[in-house]
Amino acid sequence: MSDHEQDRLLDHDYDGIQEYDNPMPRWWLWVFYATIAFVPIYYFAPGNIGAGPGKVAAYEAEVAAYEASRPAPAAGMASDESLRALVADASALELGQVTFVQHCAACHRPDAGGLIGPNLTDDAWLHGDAPSQIHATIVNGVLEKGMPGWERLLQPEQVDAVTAYVLSLKGTNPPSPKPPEGVVTPPVPPGT
Ligand code: HEC
Repeated sequence: MSDHEQDRLLDHDYDGIQEYDNPMPRWWLWVFYATIAFVPIYYFAPGNIGAGPGKVAAYEAEVAAYEASRPAPAAGMASDESLRALVADASALELGQVTFVQHCAACHRPDAGGLIGPNLTDDAWLHGDAPSQIHATIVNGVLEKGMPGWERLLQPEQVDAVTAYVLSLKGTNPPSPKPPEGVVTPPVPPGT
């Protein structure tokens, strides 16, 4: 044992056992003090750590901001009149047709004569024949029956356009249609 080490042998003697003063390395102590110094910074930092609102709140705020930045849902904005007027708008019908072929034809058939979903060209409607009702069916879907809701999947103008396109198909009598489902309503006289 060197003299230096001898110096650090403490004075106590417990039944012949002596205590050797063996301090932590200096670098270790500085790291330790640094973590203590960090506690108030961490605890009072207004950000997403410590006493701040936290990551969950930050995530929820981000989602809320995103939802707020989205265009208002199409439901309620589309009136019977505006939808009927859209049937006369060639570019809307074109957008409606593209949308229909892409998203709806798999279930309703490209000519809308009905397959998994009902025939959309006849006078029988399960969820109402008014343009705004058809629009609402497309927006909300009928999830328990396998009709998806399109509010989140399509832009509002696509929903309006595809509604107009469906309206324009009324009475087109595609070959071998699916039998009528729902309530049969008298055809809407032209011009209304
Ligand atoms: C996964 C299959 C599926 C897809 C895709 C689908 N539909 Fe449907 N749709 C259905 C089913 C099934 C029903 C019948 C719901 C019921 O029985 O209540 C339905 C019902 C409807 C109705 C109501 C018909 C009525 O008689 O009231 C409309 C309108 C409609 N769909 C339009 C669309 C449009 C427009 C699209 C594309 C944007 C679309 N659907 C895509 C399956 C689908």
